[in-house]
Amino acid sequence: NIDTKDTSKRNATAPYLYGMMHEDISHSGDGGIYAELLANRAFQGSNWNTTNLPDYNGSVIGVSENTIEPVAPVLTAWNTIGNGTRILLDRFHPISSAVPTGIEIDFPEDATGEHGFQNYGWWGMNVEPQQYNVSFYVQGNYPRNQANLTSFTVSLRSNLTGEVFASSTIANVSVPFIDSVQLFTTLHPNRTAPNSNNTFVVSFDGEAIRGQTYYFSLFSLMPETFMGTPNGLRKDIAEAFYDMKPSFLRFPGGNNLEGFSPQTRWKWNETLGPLIDRPGRPGNWGYYTTQGLGLMEYLMWSEDMGVERVLAVYSGFSLDIWGVSGPSYPLDRMPEVLQEALDEIEFCMGNITSKWGSVRASLGHPEPFDIKFVEIGNEDWFSSTYPYRWKFMYEGLKAAYPNITYISTAYNEASASYGYNITIPPGVLWDTHHYEEPSFFVRGFNFYDNWQETTNQPGAQVFLGEFSAIQIDTPSHAVNFSFPEDKHIYYPRLVSALAEGVYLLGLERNPNVCKLASYAPSLQDFNWYNWTPDMIGFDADPSHTVRSASYWQQWLFAHYRGTQSLPITNSEGDYNPLFWGATLDEGKNCVYLKIINILGDSVPLTVNIPQPYKAVNGTILTAADLNSYNYIYNQTEVVPKPLSIPASASTPASYGGAAKFQWDVPRFSLTVLQFDL
Ligand code: AHR
Repeated sequence: NIDTKDTSKRNATAPYLYGMMHEDISHSGDGGIYAELLANRAFQGSNWNTTNLPDYNGSVIGVSENTIEPVAPVLTAWNTIGNGTRILLDRFHPISSAVPTGIEIDFPEDATGEHGFQNYGWWGMNVEPQQYNVSFYVQGNYPRNQANLTSFTVSLRSNLTGEVFASSTIANVSVPFIDSVQLFTTLHPNRTAPNSNNTFVVSFDGEAIRGQTYYFSLFSLMPETFMGTPNGLRKDIAEAFYDMKPSFLRFPGGNNLEGFSPQTRWKWNETLGPLIDRPGRPGNWGYYTTQGLGLMEYLMWSEDMGVERVLAVYSGFSLDIWGVSGPSYPLDRMPEVLQEALDEIEFCMGNITSKWGSVRASLGHPEPFDIKFVEIGNEDWFSSTYPYRWKFMYEGLKAAYPNITYISTAYNEASASYGYNITIPPGVLWDTHHYEEPSFFVRGFNFYDNWQETTNQPGAQVFLGEFSAIQIDTPSHAVNFSFPEDKHIYYPRLVSALAEGVYLLGLERNPNVCKLASYAPSLQDFNWYNWTPDMIGFDADPSHTVRSASYWQQWLFAHYRGTQSLPITNSEGDYNPLFWGATLDEGKNCVYLKIINILGDSVPLTVNIPQPYKAVNGTILTAADLNSYNYIYNQTEVVPKPLSIPASASTPASYGGAAKFQWDVPRFSLTVLQFDL
């Protein structure tokens, strides 16, 4: 019985409930949603060197004393073209202190025909009829041939057939011998390449460059981006997020915020401005990140999608290489950490007369970006130092920005083993992460019903910052994190979508407590990943971008949110195997009833509404098997479909002024029914 009449029992739904979590993991950033097509574009390194990372073992350290071995630059993704042409890493012609490495190219004395070099992209590159912006820095060697001008031809080609899809020549350049020059051009393929096995080539007429040497650095090959934003997002991946109707973006981590040391953590001020000023860093997930997707790009991402921001700020704690408790800033050095966060927030939302607001304006965005949520750290239940770090950061930030909603990553109960003393103040959110098996999520349907009371934290609220069903159920209900153990599933399955959906119904029915939720991790490059399952998978070919079963669950819940939760009374039966929740969309004047059936048989359902409705429509997410999933070669195994509702299901207006709807809910399904009032 859905009560659409008694307005006193309604609650406003949480307006920002469903959102996106992004950190650079599984090449979700570089090689993923960051549109740059060249891999290792500035020879910054590919993998970090784990052997040189100190094991801090949870200590409170003198932060500045610890150093991290620099990441070795590599030639990964680059290769030469033409007999005798040689490519070497070069550190003698740095284009900036942030980008100190380039390549030296030596052409043989007897060069004929085509010579040059190529980049294979992120396991291939997509070629379409659109504009590609190309740039690179180049410097010549001591003049053997000073009078000569150099012509650079850049092209996009098939690795398989050699077909040239687009080519452009920057002709007759007087290449300087001291300092580099940055060259620009564009490429315009006139057709779509048949596959993504393509390459970017810089080539020369061999006879014209015989015996010469050049130094190159910081290449870029940018396709058109989401909403045309410069240095922006790969269109198809961004569109998948956008279609989901998210309402916030959490960034930049995750573990990737924290780094494996204070020195290698994500430092917001090193992610700004021209690419030549961005040093990049060894990320937390096994590869070097260029920071091309930096703070400004995250802010633009959220602006372009019209979503709120959950800005995670460093809170003085880094992981160690084993992903657990690492070094913490001591209390007497917390002012530095606080100041860094204050500066970061000022960069985002300060007006242009402020120090950091003026820097933002100088980067092309004078209007402040509003920040509604600031998260202090990430998963600080790993650290025994959070009580003093949290207090220091929360009090300092709140004094400066009282209108921001703050997020704690731990509290007493969740961190009991550390003997914590953090009670979440009223209005502050607790970010909880759940990588669990499906039954955990089903069992958790009621978890938030009396959460404030049971945890003795009146007014505290919840942000489900990361969640996903990462394995199938085990008899022990133990979650196995030792990927790639085969229990860790590769793709979200129908069972994941149903179980996660049940848990989220539990959030929806507690809108005064549960404010935000984001699936994690959100993206996975199928060619290189270190975590599964993920919400969206991709490779270089946009037709391979897969929206998973869990994506579609999120999509359905985000599309059919409603503005008020509606009271439901159960005249017969209780939850399980059916789970449900109802909301009212005041703008559209309709009721959304979400129903999940976790049983392998259909279950009869009767819905009573105390007023007639004009129409009922439905959308259903189901599949042949609980273990069904979407993947590159079958992307539509688990997708929402319009529900065909038999006319006999409805008896609107003929039921004593009320309406009755009777229907057998199909086995293993998630349905949203929409009753237009
Ligand atoms: O989502 C992957 C990782 O899981 C996140 O970086 C971290 O916050 C969590 O432990």
